[in-house]
Amino acid sequence: MSDATFPWDGGSGPAVATAPLPPAPDAACIRLDAVTVDFRDTRALDGLTLRVSRGELVTLLGPSGCGKTTALRVVAGFISPSGGRVYLRGAPAEALPPHRRNIGLVYQHYALFPHMTVAQNVAFGLKVRRWPAARVRDKVGEMLDLVRLGQWGGRYPRELSGGMQQRVAVARAMAIEPDILLFDEPLSALDARLRVELREEIKQLHRRIPDVAILYVTHDQEEALVISDRIVVMNAGRVAQIGTPEEVFSRPRTIFCAEFMGASNIVHAAVLERRNGAAVVAVGSERVEIPAPITCALGQPVTFCVRPERVRLDTHGANRVRGVFDDVSFKGAAVTVRVTVPGSAPVRLAAEVPAGQWDSARRVGEELVLSFDRADCVIVDA
Ligand SMILES: Nc1ncnc2c1ncn2[C@@H]1O[C@H](COP(=O)(O)OP(=O)(O)OP(=O)(O)O)[C@@H](O)[C@H]1O
Ligand SMILES: [Mg+2]
Repeated sequence: MSDATFPWDGGSGPAVATAPLPPAPDAACIRLDAVTVDFRDTRALDGLTLRVSRGELVTLLGPSGCGKTTALRVVAGFISPSGGRVYLRGAPAEALPPHRRNIGLVYQHYALFPHMTVAQNVAFGLKVRRWPAARVRDKVGEMLDLVRLGQWGGRYPRELSGGMQQRVAVARAMAIEPDILLFDEPLSALDARLRVELREEIKQLHRRIPDVAILYVTHDQEEALVISDRIVVMNAGRVAQIGTPEEVFSRPRTIFCAEFMGASNIVHAAVLERRNGAAVVAVGSERVEIPAPITCALGQPVTFCVRPERVRLDTHGANRVRGVFDDVSFKGAAVTVRVTVPGSAPVRLAAEVPAGQWDSARRVGEELVLSFDRADCVIVDA
């Protein structure tokens, strides 16, 4: 990629030349150390630290404005950080201009050249690099096969669906043989079905290019869970949590992470007693057991979450709470049932259960018992 290759990515200042530093001690392909970026009155990145290894697909996941695109632009070299260090392939990158970073970029909007055929779009970066014609032809063929568009080289972008155009954009980014690929919400302009289809393709592509480090931006938690080796949950320019999809989903560290990953039962309680390695806390007028916090004094406030899918409408779980049924919403295969546990501080809990388990004759205001296991309660930082 070069400035000439991506003329639409304007507004980038020149990279600041810095004194050479010894290579970073680890061989992470992308490494950001405490990177800060300030735009006039906005701090877009606030000490962001992350690593992506060769062959790894790491996702930046977070709400709008949390700094995801800014982080990609720092890696690509379009923004010079106001603080912190950037290493690529183990070497300081500050002095490397964007076109010498050997990075492929795919954006939300395909940004194909409309007056060029599919093959010409894919060939563009190679011609800028003065590859010989025969090599360009071979590479374009290989790339179009890779994204399953082998027969479409002669068509124009306007003749292709959105999903196909985005595959051309991927082929173009890959053609220059980058060892780093950056994706900025590549699927968010597509309809729901295509998004699911293309995320599978990106996952397969990732397996077929084992030497490439991929940094992938999305605000869609399901997409992040499906495609990532690791997820970086971001909040306000910082890392909120880094982990495998499983860790981030099942063991959120903070209320923000829990909410962002869709764990809607977040309960503030106080420790009433300790029993069998557990802490007993009040949920409304009921008592439940949760894993004991590391420091756990009686009366200490504690916040825990339990995913709605882990809450059942039966009475088998260790924790049973009685409440008033106040709402149900159908989501196709599952229903979400909401129950308020009364008390001096009432608590509203959601249970997501298979639709077959829900008795639609139930009326709002009826008493319902919910249950969940101690092991499914996760203590989070308030
Ligand atoms: N060129 C700029 N000048 C001034 N402020 C900017 C600039 N680019 C980004 N910002 C601000 O920096 C913050 C982070 O922006 P960024 O585009 O990185 O967020 P994002 O996570 O990619 O959001 P989205 O999901 O909406 O794309 C935002 O508050 C944004 O308004
Ligand atoms: Mg963005």
